[in-house]
This record gives sequence, structure tokens and C-alpha cells, in this order.
Amino acid sequence: MRKVSLVESLRVIGRGSVNWLGERPIVVSFEVTDSCTCYCKHCDHGGPKDDSRNLKPADYRRYVEALRPCVVQISGGEPLMRADVVEIVRNIKYDGCMPYTILVSNWSEMTEQRYLELCAAGVHQFSVSLDFPDDRHDAFRGLPGLYDHISQLIPRCARHGFDNIVLNSCITSENLNEINPMADRAREWGVNMCYSAYSARRTGCRDYFLNTREQLATLNRELDRVEARRDSTNWLVNSPSTLDATRRYFANNGAPGCKAGLRFLVVTPQGMLQPCSMQFKSYPLEERSRMIEEFTKTNACDQCYVSIRSYLDKSFPVLLWENVSGFFSFKTARPSA
Ligand SMILES: C[S@@+](CC[C@H](N)C(=O)[O-])C[C@H]1O[C@@H](n2cnc3c(N)ncnc32)[C@H](O)[C@@H]1O
Ligand code: SF4
Ligand code: SF4
Repeated sequence: MRKVSLVESLRVIGRGSVNWLGERPIVVSFEVTDSCTCYCKHCDHGGPKDDSRNLKPADYRRYVEALRPCVVQISGGEPLMRADVVEIVRNIKYDGCMPYTILVSNWSEMTEQRYLELCAAGVHQFSVSLDFPDDRHDAFRGLPGLYDHISQLIPRCARHGFDNIVLNSCITSENLNEINPMADRAREWGVNMCYSAYSARRTGCRDYFLNTREQLATLNRELDRVEARRDSTNWLVNSPSTLDATRRYFANNGAPGCKAGLRFLVVTPQGMLQPCSMQFKSYPLEERSRMIEEFTKTNACDQCYVSIRSYLDKSFPVLLWENVSGFFSFKTARPSA
């Protein structure tokens, strides 16, 4: 994965430190539409929704100026369904390169030209969902032809050499045996790999969680093999501690210590703040402190270990070391947790 320049790294570190101490979010996820092109088995989105009250690109500036996040995810629903997504990216930029910007998408609506426009607008990382290393992906996502489309497009985009594409696989009971074959695809296509973990909270369905000893044993075996493939190029984007926390999350049936609302939050397509994408009590931008008081301070939910949490449940020195020194271009001695 491409490392960010030292100047950019120092800016992100500076902003991160200010936000951490000032109790502002480090990561903001803008869900820019509720609509989707897919009907995934593990998700509560799917299909068209009412998009008439969505924020306009220029509205995003007010949120970025108030929240000053270090990292922004642009997500949904399917964010590429918005014809104006490049305009949205331009409007979330402040101080030149800030924030570090990740587009989380299924890529059904991606083209090579759109990819290049989004790179030019300032997307640092493209997180492309992949649930299977073949056309079982289409069946899981309810969109025929999706695997074919991305398996042709991703290598083409990767050949531009920006090294900013990451396959993002949500581990479920269905794709447990595909953890390494999906990493094989990342290698073949010349891109990076990242894993996240299924949460039953979205749909209430526990079938895709890892419920048996055999499943946990398979998870551990597959992740051991992944760890053995780690090298200094950062192609495996999860840190070792995040993969360990993923094992614990499945084994313990949850991951305590969530800082939703404080360290990260979601902005809905209509512009309300939510602690996360699976907690639906919403607040206007001006009432973020009330969300922290009412939600974060008493939150006992431990029902996911999705990537937004895996960045942020750690102490600040550990976070800096893992997500900044490893990922960006600057190196320090490893701090203790
Ligand atoms: C909600 S989607 C939105 C962006 C885009 N539509 C996509 O699929 O990448 C973001 C990520 O959440 C993951 N996801 C969906 N349902 C999930 C669940 N129940 N638990 C954990 N992750 C889930 C998806 O696989 C995807 O990688
Ligand atoms: S995971 Fe993404 S692509 Fe699938 S239904 Fe949910 S929002 Fe749509
Ligand atoms: S653990 Fe945190 S981020 Fe996950 S669903 Fe619960 S409140 Fe949301």
C-alpha cells in the first residue's frame, strides 16, 4: 500500500493529536446515499431508496469544517451511485491534502475514467468489497456479473501504479475458507488486502457469524497463513494486533470498549450524525456533545469489529505507531499497548 509523504504524515499526526485531546472524531464516515446496486446477504441496505433529501456536494464543507476529521470514509449504500461523488470528494478537502480519504464501494459503478477522476480529486484509498474469489461473489451480493466486472477493472486500474486499491473482505461463516484465496486475488490483481468481521447487528441474522469450534479453528488456521504472508510492502493492510482482535471478537462473541460517537461517527445521507452505521439514534451536527453524553458515555454495545472500530479502539500511542508509522512514511520505536 502506498505510503503517504512525510509532510502529509505530519499533518495527519498533528490533526489526529488535536482531535484526540479535543474529543473530536478521528474518522468520519459520510454515507452519501442509502441506495445500493446490490442486495448483499449480510447487509441491511440493498436496492433503491428515497434519495430526494440527500446532502448536496457543497453541504459537506460545513461538516468537514466543524468536525475537522483526519480520515474520512465515503460510503453508503453504494457511493458510486451518486453521479456527483467527485464533487463530494472535492468539497471534503481542507488544508490541501486533508483529510486522508477512503472510498468504500462495491465498484459496480466504477470505470477506469471515474477511478482516475477520483484519484485526481484526492481519494487516497479505494476500499473494494470482495466476499468470494470467484463468481460466488455475485450470488452473495445479488448482482450478476459483478465479479467479472471487478476482476477485469481492478487490474487495469492497478496498472496506473498509484498503489491505492485495497480489497476489503468481510469474514463470514460462508467465506471462511476463502480468506487466503481472496488474498491470492489481491496479489494477482496487484492490489492490497484488508479483512473485517461480520456483525449480526445489521440484519439480526446469526447464520453468517462464526458459531462453532470448527469455524473458529478454520479462522485461526487461515489467519495464521495470512500472517505468514505479511511482508514489508504493507500489502496486508490490517496490523497484526487488528487480526488478533478479530480472532478474539469471533471467539468471545463481541468486542468491548467501543468509542462510537467520540472517536468516530457517521453522517447520514440527509446530514444527521449517528454514532455508527448500526446505531440509529441521530443528532444534528450542532448536538455532537449530546450524542457523546447520551450514547458514548454509557455505550455497552460490543456487537461489531468493523474497520472503523479496528482503527480506533487503541490508545493514542499505539494508534500512531500502527496506523501512522506503519502506514505512512514515518517510523518510530513500537510503543507498548
Ligand atoms: C455497508 S457497505 C457500504 C459500501 C459499499 N456498498 C460496499 O459494499 O463496499 C461497507 C462495508 O460493510 C460491509 N458489511 C456489510 N454488512 C456487514 C455486516 N453485517 N457486518 C460487517 N460488515 C458488513 C460490506 O461488506 C462492505 O465492505
Ligand atoms: S454491503 Fe454495500 S453493496 Fe452490499 S447491500 Fe450493503 S451497502 Fe450495498
Ligand atoms: S460495537 Fe460500536 S460501532 Fe459496533 S455496532 Fe456497537 S456501537 Fe456500533
